[in-house]
Amino acid sequence: MSAIKNQFQFVICGTDTDIGKTLISSFFVRGLNSFYWKPIQSGIESEIDSQALARLTKVNKAKIIKEAYIFREPVSPHWAAEIDQKVINFQLLNLPNIVGPLIVETAGGLMVPITRNYLQIDQIKKWDIPVILVCRSGLGTLNHTLLSVEALKKRNIKILGLVINGNKHFDNPKTLSEFTNLPIIAEFPYIDKIDSNNLDILWKELNIKNKLITILNSKKY
Ligand SMILES: Nc1ncnc2c1ncn2[C@@H]1O[C@H](COP(=O)(O)OP(=O)(O)OP(=O)(O)O)[C@@H](O)[C@H]1O
Ligand SMILES: [Mg+2]
Repeated sequence: MSAIKNQFQFVICGTDTDIGKTLISSFFVRGLNSFYWKPIQSGIESEIDSQALARLTKVNKAKIIKEAYIFREPVSPHWAAEIDQKVINFQLLNLPNIVGPLIVETAGGLMVPITRNYLQIDQIKKWDIPVILVCRSGLGTLNHTLLSVEALKKRNIKILGLVINGNKHFDNPKTLSEFTNLPIIAEFPYIDKIDSNNLDILWKELNIKNKLITILNSKKY
């Protein structure tokens, strides 16, 4: 990456919906004191992601950039937009002009359609900032994660590394790092009480900032 100002601008993507993207986004937003943007939100029936993130991080509200689209139904964005009779204007999906750290949370996984002929991964390619891939720790992760990484690599999208979310698994981290050749940024544990204090404790314990700097400075990256 070229400009130092962009050093901590990442897309947080997941191998699936409900995989922990908002939680891990909260972890990074708090640790880096970054801006947060969820450009497309599908579903308003309960707390939306930006609200959950505000609650978990307690960051200044000014750090939370307004969604480009909020659709009513909790379905894939392409269909949610159709139900709401909205046409996506791609200009509104361009990255906000932020100087400093920024975390962008995707809508679902990589192959989720944003329109009938445009996928989430196409937009990630356009954004041109590195991806942090959140994956589950347990059964099913090898297939989902290896497929996701293959799709990213095929498009030459930079991948900063993996965040493996959930109860510690004996073998999966090793297997994932061997097959993908990617750094494991964190094995993020299952936590009973998710709050800003526990996020801060984990941020220090897992030594995330130094790991990010090491990865960004590594030749491989
Ligand atoms: N490590 C964890 N410990 C405890 N709870 C977790 C953990 N990871 C995820 N969860 C819980 O699982 C649920 C889904 O997580 P989250 O909302 O972060 O997923 P998501 O990938 O952002 O979902 P979406 O696709 O809807 O954006 C939340 O209730 C979250 O608190
Ligand atoms: Mg989310």
